[in-house]
Amino acid sequence: VAPLRVGLLGLGTVGQGVIRVLQRNADEITRRVGRPVVVTHASARDTSKAREVSLEGITILTDPMDIAAKADVDVVVELIGGTTYARDLVLAAIARGKPVVTANKALLALEGNAVFSAAREKGVLVGFEAAVAGGIPVIKAIREGLAGNRIEALAGIINGTCNYILTQMTEKGQAFADALADAQRLGYAEADPTFDVEGVDAAHKLTILASIAFGMPLNFDAVAVEGITKVTPQDIKIAQALGYRIKHLGIAKRTDSGAELRVHATLIPEDKLIAKVDGVLNTVLLQGDAVGQMGLYGRGAGGDATASAVVADLVDVARSIGAEARHLVPALAFQPDAVRALPV
Ligand code: NDP
Ligand code: HSE
Repeated sequence: VAPLRVGLLGLGTVGQGVIRVLQRNADEITRRVGRPVVVTHASARDTSKAREVSLEGITILTDPMDIAAKADVDVVVELIGGTTYARDLVLAAIARGKPVVTANKALLALEGNAVFSAAREKGVLVGFEAAVAGGIPVIKAIREGLAGNRIEALAGIINGTCNYILTQMTEKGQAFADALADAQRLGYAEADPTFDVEGVDAAHKLTILASIAFGMPLNFDAVAVEGITKVTPQDIKIAQALGYRIKHLGIAKRTDSGAELRVHATLIPEDKLIAKVDGVLNTVLLQGDAVGQMGLYGRGAGGDATASAVVADLVDVARSIGAEARHLVPALAFQPDAVRALPV
């Protein structure tokens, strides 16, 4: 069977994670989708930079537009970031009918209405599971698993960098600047880390979550945004002494007139589950009218965790192109007898 040919824009933390996960789990993924998923083209600004993954067999280009608009690929994965060139790249891919997968929450929060409208017109899939909460499959959970619910509210820790910094300040007494430098070294932070620590990244993600959960247009301007730069070591000590933890949360609630959306640091009683979600972990708690309260928890940033979500979207794309029906419907694709019959 012909492989699904992936054009990968960006070979940074997440781009390399995608190559690593696709290479490591190649057999498993091939079995799941009925064809191999292979990166054939990739782009980076600096092609002489050492990468942590094998690029053997991949055509490396410096201009991502050469992949988005020209290369012979089946799907374009945008992992560059930003909202201007990334928008051009994604729209160029959509214009020639290529499905797109992106982890770019800034792009979707600010330009998503245009991107999704172009995709709808062309009838192509845009996957963005990785754009919110890294490896946690929260988009699919809301859109698919909770499709029968009216979602009343959601709240969570949706920025790994902020949570990492607050955890380090609380547990190790580390200085804010040192903890941020560590988060950058570990690949958690945005290219411009003020997006993390000023709450903008969490607001981008909340914009996307609210749109899916409440069925409203993407409206970044509706989010009240506050980061963690004003949280002092003294605040953290006093909170601890009183039995609280300081967490940076994104909160979305339905109101009579629409939705209330805000991101800010919050005092959480230390015995609550959310107070124990530490480091790069994220969590999203949801309130659905049928399911009641439920929560998701996992790594919210980092190369492999985010790649987990990108690759899940690639699996969706592979199942949607020229595939047999059993690959299109996850429930039908689950065939325990067939799985047992395959070599392990
Ligand atoms: P990196 O900065 O690590 O990688 C960006 C890549 O894009 C690099 O390969 C870089 O090239 C290339 N690039 C940057 N600017 C340009 C440009 N103008 N033209 C061409 N190529 C360019 O970013 P991440 O991998 O961390 O993030 C990628 C996307 O994923 C972002 O949208 C981010 O918000 C999102 N994301 C990141 C997560 C994370 O944990 N890091 C988690 C979830 C989403 P070169 O390598 O040569 O510098
Ligand atoms: N900078 C982001 C974070 C990456 O720290 O959560 C994951 O979206």
